[in-house]
Amino acid sequence: DNPSNVSSASLGFESIAGSRTDAITVAAGYSAMVLAPWGTPLNSTAADWRQDGTNTAEDQANSVGMHHDGMHFFPLNGSETDGLLCINHEYIDQNALHPNGATRDSATGLRNDIEEIRKEINAHGVTVVRIQLINGQWEVVKNDVHNKRFTGATEMAISGPVTDNRDLLKTKYSQDGTAVRGTLNNCGNGYTPWGTYLTCEENWPGYFVNTGTQDAAQSRLGIDDEDTRYGWDDLAGDAAEMNDEFARFDITVKGADALSDYRNEANGHGYIVEIDPYNPNSKAVKRTALGRFRHEGCVFGKLTAGEPVVFYSGHDGRFEYIYKFESAAGWDPADANSTDRLATGAKYMDEGTLYVAKFNDDGTGTWIPLNRSTATTTGGTLADTFATEADLILNTPGAADLVGATPMDRPEWCAVDPMTGSAYFTLTNNTRRQEANSANPRIDNSFGHIIRWDEGASATEFSWDIFVFGAPVSADAETNKSGLNEMNQFASPDGLVFDSRGILWVQTDNGADEVTEYTNDQMLAVVPSKLRDSGNKQVAISGDNQDNLRRFFVGPNGCEVTGLAFSPDNKTFFANIQHPGNWPFSADAAEATPAGASVRPRAATVVIRKNDGGEIGV
Ligand code: FEO
Ligand code: CA
Ligand code: CA
Ligand code: CA
Repeated sequence: DNPSNVSSASLGFESIAGSRTDAITVAAGYSAMVLAPWGTPLNSTAADWRQDGTNTAEDQANSVGMHHDGMHFFPLNGSETDGLLCINHEYIDQNALHPNGATRDSATGLRNDIEEIRKEINAHGVTVVRIQLINGQWEVVKNDVHNKRFTGATEMAISGPVTDNRDLLKTKYSQDGTAVRGTLNNCGNGYTPWGTYLTCEENWPGYFVNTGTQDAAQSRLGIDDEDTRYGWDDLAGDAAEMNDEFARFDITVKGADALSDYRNEANGHGYIVEIDPYNPNSKAVKRTALGRFRHEGCVFGKLTAGEPVVFYSGHDGRFEYIYKFESAAGWDPADANSTDRLATGAKYMDEGTLYVAKFNDDGTGTWIPLNRSTATTTGGTLADTFATEADLILNTPGAADLVGATPMDRPEWCAVDPMTGSAYFTLTNNTRRQEANSANPRIDNSFGHIIRWDEGASATEFSWDIFVFGAPVSADAETNKSGLNEMNQFASPDGLVFDSRGILWVQTDNGADEVTEYTNDQMLAVVPSKLRDSGNKQVAISGDNQDNLRRFFVGPNGCEVTGLAFSPDNKTFFANIQHPGNWPFSADAAEATPAGASVRPRAATVVIRKNDGGEIGV
């Protein structure tokens, strides 16, 4: 007599112990192979990856990028064994990317090698790569027509409210404000019901510098006033002699007007970017209606015909917010088979309402709309601060500050339970929290938690609870609030994905010693819709239901486990290993690099299969 909204899946593996080796470990009965590591050629323009770091910038533009993160598998013709893998490449490790790290002028300390910087820009972004299962092994299909790189330099389109005022997007490069260049720091991801990929621009402010007077949006979002993350602006030149390829990273006002410099360049960054992987000739589109902040991920809510499509996205920063976008258009199930996918994206993602979350102490919540007519907490409306909706979107968190949104412990990924529609959200940690609130109840939150909510009767109401608190088993009950034990202790939940059967997969990006001394970053599984009390109400992880949260996978030393995709039959899982320390040693992801040996580390996708060919996890 199971209610229809309870998953029929049961975890069929035993929780594994933690591990701290230069290898992955996975539950008994499974194997894991390395696929598409950084530098894998997508076509014959790229030379094979070289162990000494000497591949060129052009090689990199035609090869898999670095530091894999969010990911999704798009089947071709509904196949279980043939499809397109879209992979985010969040950032780079200059020491691994180049033969001897970043080159600098010995006198000035500034970057001075153009080719090196081009290679770094090309190692960022997104890879679309065709893969096929051949004789039991997933392989990259080199030279496939779908294979494509979007880099930190690829020209993209931009749509939504910010484009109502093209003056805000005009640059020396794009005199009419219609083109933006590149996507940067692509961390979490999403996908749409109509078959497109969503890549999220997270810590993009670090790539720009404004040494002059910053506007409110720039200072609120964290544009630096001295330097950029990798020094790409070192080759910018001055107003008289601007190097346009790199000058765009220096958004200081230099020229007579916006057409003569790059003061507006960063206005083209900080968005959810839509990519149609099935159409390699299409341009990526930045969807500004979903807000501008450091987007970690983007997930759509449960679909109902005729009702709006909703997307959830978090701003990964200490004390930042969780947002919801609701489309103006009602969902038409026929759009799932759209062939003009980016036009369908425009239909559901360019017009609608952006909300920010307020978590009340009584377990209710309010979605506060972010538009110029919204009342602020000090009287008046957002129109007092923002002259147009475009200005409001450019400083989305600044608007959220004014309306009483709840500051969270670093919102990372969201996942929506296909059984119940409940939304789960990782709050990875916040060691600077000194004042607790009910949704972020631990001060000095080193270990993070997962909050969840159900939408209410109206678009502005929801109800919430905390599903699980990360903690080391060594902590007292005040900290280990969910009663985790050695076999499921974790900290800093980050990646979070439901599979189609209602199994929730939790990935970690942890730096808390109490857990790292026990295990490297990991992936755990749980079936939340099955955790019920006697009244059939969903319950959280607690002392007496520990066996439901099981450790499935542990990554190699130094890495973060992030990004998860599935073949449609759930017989293959793809998980990403980002910034490993001394891995991979061979194609077998579980083969450890021998003691004393060192390899040039390569982020990679790991293909997980069950040895008997069955579905993963059950
Ligand atoms: Fe790039 Fe918030 O993790
Ligand atoms: Ca990451
Ligand atoms: Ca992350
Ligand atoms: Ca993280």
